[in-house]
Amino acid sequence: MSQRTLVLLKPDTVRRGLVGEVLGRFEAKGLSIVALEFRTIDGETADQHYAEHVERDFYPPLRAFVTSGPLVALVLEGDEAIEVVRALNGATDGRKAAPGTIRGDLSLSNRENLVHGSDSPESADREIKIWFPDLP
Ligand code: CMP
Repeated sequence: MSQRTLVLLKPDTVRRGLVGEVLGRFEAKGLSIVALEFRTIDGETADQHYAEHVERDFYPPLRAFVTSGPLVALVLEGDEAIEVVRALNGATDGRKAAPGTIRGDLSLSNRENLVHGSDSPESADREIKIWFPDLP
């Protein structure tokens, strides 16, 4: 079933010059980019996006990180896109993520883990509305 998912290439991806490498993996897999924007977000947008994490101990440094510089937000579309993107991303902690995944190959951190992908159809709907409210 074709789905849409919200993906972030977080500020570490931009800082490290890995936008092309990471975007290329999604494109090579066969997913389509249906929206894409380069932007720097404020704390309120971070709080909206990470609403389920705002009370967690790890949230203040995560908030500082995601607002620390430009990121790339995009919507990818394709068959089972939500699970496919999560598989390509790998486990949250880059130190534990399997080789072959984006985080497993390119990240050594639990926070600066390069990418975000929606974790369910409900999250994808909610997150796409936050980042791309005008996307038909
Ligand atoms: P993401 O997929 O964007 O969803 C929540 C983010 O919080 C996660 O990627 C990491 O960047 C960050 N995160 C999750 N757990 C931890 C943790 N234990 N310590 C630091 N950052 C975390």
